[in-house]
Amino acid sequence: MASIRDYLFDSALLDQSLDYLAETLDLAVTVLDSEGTAIASRQAEGLDTPASRAYPFQFSSDIGAIVCAAATRDRLDQAEPHILYCLTALNSQLLRETELQETTEEMLQLSGQLNFLFKVAKKIIGIDDLKKCYQVILDEISRTTKADQGFIHTKGRWDEEIRVTHKISDEEVDATRDSICLRHTTAGSTIICTREDGASLLYSPIKEKDGQSGEMVFIRTHGHRAFSASEKQLVAIIENIISPTFETLRLYDSLQDLYLNTVKALAAAIDAKDEYTHGHSFRVAKYAMTIGGELGLSSQQINDLEIAGYMHDLGKIGISELILGKPGKLTHEEFCLIQKHPVFTDKILQPIKLPLHILEGATQHHERMDGTGYPCGLTGANISLFGRIIAVADVFDALTSKRPYRDALPVEAALRKLCDGIDSLFDREMILAFLSALRSEQSKEALADINMGLSYDDIHNLNQFLIELKEFALATARN
Ligand SMILES: [Fe+2]
Repeated sequence: MASIRDYLFDSALLDQSLDYLAETLDLAVTVLDSEGTAIASRQAEGLDTPASRAYPFQFSSDIGAIVCAAATRDRLDQAEPHILYCLTALNSQLLRETELQETTEEMLQLSGQLNFLFKVAKKIIGIDDLKKCYQVILDEISRTTKADQGFIHTKGRWDEEIRVTHKISDEEVDATRDSICLRHTTAGSTIICTREDGASLLYSPIKEKDGQSGEMVFIRTHGHRAFSASEKQLVAIIENIISPTFETLRLYDSLQDLYLNTVKALAAAIDAKDEYTHGHSFRVAKYAMTIGGELGLSSQQINDLEIAGYMHDLGKIGISELILGKPGKLTHEEFCLIQKHPVFTDKILQPIKLPLHILEGATQHHERMDGTGYPCGLTGANISLFGRIIAVADVFDALTSKRPYRDALPVEAALRKLCDGIDSLFDREMILAFLSALRSEQSKEALADINMGLSYDDIHNLNQFLIELKEFALATARN
């Protein structure tokens, strides 16, 4: 049994609609659930209603209908536009609330996954023994997925076999690796299968550039719940992130890339939601680092700036692809939802306890110097340094990339547009740093390294153009 009340966070609109239809239009109104049981009704006393019609709610599953009845069929026909109007309003409230619900669930799930990944990353940074790293990862995943047993079987630095186990004997590992359900696993992807004795297995290959180097297997013994699709998804994400790290570890004895790989993989997942923003986070991180370098930031700060750049649009995971890639004009509601993505980013990153300057960089890139930005309307130096840097990097990349509703702007036009926003939208110092950096690094090549698809106006000497633009920016400061 399902009813509209199960899906409405606030049922005021439903009650108001019922009152309106009953009192203003003289109808008898009943709300039915999916099994036809009345869950609400309105009817004036003594009203005789032989003519009736049912209006089902539009929803992904059956959640019932509104049934309206009147004294005559004509009366019902006259009332129908009003009934349909109320129904449309209720249907769109249902849609909004389910989208919000899905967004919240997706965010909570992502936040949980991120939390887990960072916990693992923190634990293994500093361990230089490969086997110990595998053990930490195995124990953490086993704990998170509530696996009774688990093992990783893979190759070491000299291609020797490495095996780490979690509450399982070597004999049982051999038997499981030999079990029929795993012997037929050739797809190279994460799967759930059932062992001959009824145990649930969650199998994930460890891949390297040249093929598969090993496997992780988690086991829920017979009688326990089988692994779920979301546990499989978590292990698949972890596998995607740690496989390159394992390879690096194995070949080069280095753990430096784990943290960055984690963040890059997440950024790529966000960018992939919208074909027009493909590679956006990567480019914003690079542009931001260029500005940071020109400002004389330390190498640690520049590394942190890169992480903040990768994370700056993380909150877009909570926004539908249909809105992100919409070719036409956004509705007011859609625009408001997009404006919430820094808030979503904040919610996702809060539990991870990142250094404050990284968090601020990721969440303040839409704040503007004059306070017209979002989500907080911060002004001037109240916006963090990282926020002001990433704002410039973000807008430059947005302007020079193709969007569903316009072509990419040439580099010169994009830089001019940025200069138009000096002091009102962007911090002058950040723009001057960007212009200087582009000049000093032989701008065309430097830019092409970050974005191969950049277009240019027909300016022979971009360097000269940048000098003029910088002088313009300095001149407006003197006036
Ligand atoms: Fe953004």
